[in-house]
Amino acid sequence: MQTFEQYLRENLPKTDTFHPVYEKALGEMLLAGGKRFRPMLLLRVVEAYEPLLVESAFVPALALECFHTYSLIHDDLPAMDDSPLRRGKSTLHKTYDEATAILAGDALNTHAFLLLSYAAFREDIRIKLVEILAYNGGTEGMVLGQAIDLYFENTPLTIAQVKQLHTKKTAMLIAASLQMGAVIVGLDKSIQDALYGFGIGLGLLFQIQDDIIDETQSSEEAGKVTGNDSEKNSFITLLGLKESMAQADALAAELEERFHAFDARLQGALEPLMQEYLYRHR
Ligand code: IPE
Ligand code: IPE
Ligand code: MG
Ligand code: MG
Ligand code: MG
Repeated sequence: MQTFEQYLRENLPKTDTFHPVYEKALGEMLLAGGKRFRPMLLLRVVEAYEPLLVESAFVPALALECFHTYSLIHDDLPAMDDSPLRRGKSTLHKTYDEATAILAGDALNTHAFLLLSYAAFREDIRIKLVEILAYNGGTEGMVLGQAIDLYFENTPLTIAQVKQLHTKKTAMLIAASLQMGAVIVGLDKSIQDALYGFGIGLGLLFQIQDDIIDETQSSEEAGKVTGNDSEKNSFITLLGLKESMAQADALAAELEERFHAFDARLQGALEPLMQEYLYRHR
């Protein structure tokens, strides 16, 4: 069987145009790599219950990665975090120009929903996948989180507000990835909800870890510019490194316990990801 990575490389957005760099720009940040955390969460949930559906699930998994990559391209723009490096490569607005980067992000955003509409699942499932990605990625989710992140630069928020910011900008898409897997294999609403709630915790931890990485890793190690969050409401600027580490530890331990309440199939399939990510701040 093909791996998801091979599938992604063979299924970059294709266009029919005389534009010399448009298609290349659309694929460039996808090809640059990244951890593929969100697609893997979806695929592992599918694999736990319906291994035969994993290849069909590459399509919504790629939709998640396209959507996430769009959010990164826009996050790096001069008007947002103004960053020249992403996934170890020059960002699109540096390699090409701002308009090309903005439009590549726009294209990957809409491409994600096109992919969901094409997926080889029942129509009601496809509509549900569209709903989950739009809800968690859009108005009430990632976009709002980014809006809060940028509007309140240099204005200290409370820790409760920063948790809301991190939940919106990062955790909702991570929770959505687990929920989309659950919808594909037809899990009961109660298990869907449990997975979504777990994903919110996991996503909050993921962003706290990202804040810690900004403080502790070099740009070479992280593949993106680090030491860059001083104007941000990050866990580090609010709590400092030591307390952020302690909070990450506590949240990881709580998530470990919640993880062990899932059924054996789910635990088995998700275990490698938990191993890799729960304590990545250490
Ligand atoms: C970076 O996401 C932005 C955050 C939400 C923290 P990732 O850490 O998943 O970035 P890639 O996909 O591995 O490049
Ligand atoms: C970005 O958070 C979250 C997104 C929704 C893209 P950051 O701004 O902390 O992500 P990095 O550190 O640039 O990857
Ligand atoms: Mg940002
Ligand atoms: Mg950023
Ligand atoms: Mg960051």
